[in-house]
Amino acid sequence: MEKTKIILDCDPGHDDAVAIILAGKNPKIDLLGITIVSGNQTLDKTVRNALNVTQHLEIDVPVYGGCSEPMVRKKVVAGDIHGESGLDGPVFPPLERKAEPEHAVNFIIKTLMESEGDITVVTTGPMTNLAMAMRMEPNIVPKIKQIVLMGGAIANGNVSPAAEFNIMADAEAAYVCFTSGRPMTMVGLDVTRKVLCYPEIVERMGRIGNRASKLFVDLMGHFCKTQKEVFGWEGGPLHDPVTLAYLIDPSVLKVKPMNVRIDIRSTESYGRTNCDPFDYLHLPHTADVAMDIDVERFWDIIEENIRLYG
Ligand code: BDR
Ligand code: CA
Repeated sequence: MEKTKIILDCDPGHDDAVAIILAGKNPKIDLLGITIVSGNQTLDKTVRNALNVTQHLEIDVPVYGGCSEPMVRKKVVAGDIHGESGLDGPVFPPLERKAEPEHAVNFIIKTLMESEGDITVVTTGPMTNLAMAMRMEPNIVPKIKQIVLMGGAIANGNVSPAAEFNIMADAEAAYVCFTSGRPMTMVGLDVTRKVLCYPEIVERMGRIGNRASKLFVDLMGHFCKTQKEVFGWEGGPLHDPVTLAYLIDPSVLKVKPMNVRIDIRSTESYGRTNCDPFDYLHLPHTADVAMDIDVERFWDIIEENIRLYG
């Protein structure tokens, strides 16, 4: 079976941690490295969270710390959802794993330059690391097979009427990536808000009874509570793992090619992904945008992947 080679760039984060679970053992995925960015919490915390998750689940993949600040704007974090640690809820054994000494941006550049153009970059946090890599070494751009990102929305955002968190937290970085000319798949709130992790889903995954299943339950305990406090939903939307689910089984999403532009100029709509599904503007299609998701299949993928942990 041919595996999809990926670099997972993330900011764990509860739903990022579930994305790591999906990427860590799936036989269709060749996870080359996990690169970390500041986002849901500050960089020191998101790196620590990635190390804790990979150590606990024995995912033997290098973790690289990346950018601690956005490219232009002031840093924001999402402590209201992910807590003070960025991964409140689970209690991990003492941390022995360390991050690699190499900077995430250098790892991305080196790995892409040495590749045969067959690497997919998956981003589930602000796009700072990838954008910085493109600016530092523009020759990587044609080497990127595709970018699959969790971010943006055709409809409303989740941090302002216009913007979704990952794009708003570094809209200039998203702008760089969306104007790179590489194939992009945008997995936005339009679909991730359809996979709400209701209590019966948490119970279903909990019944699997392995380490990943226990971690999932502990993660969702905190995540679903804060999602309810902030948004009023009974189940937390499991945003980030949709990117991995799509790479594992593309039939899980319906996508539509369209022009997408990132708003970096306006104050009220900073970070909006201006999508043109009806081609009003007659502009080139720059991304495949997720329009719908097979919810049942998505939860089956989550279950199948949790089961891979023994
Ligand atoms: C995105 O923001 C973060 O809080 C989540 O991890 C996800 O990547 C959803 O807007
Ligand atoms: Ca994230």
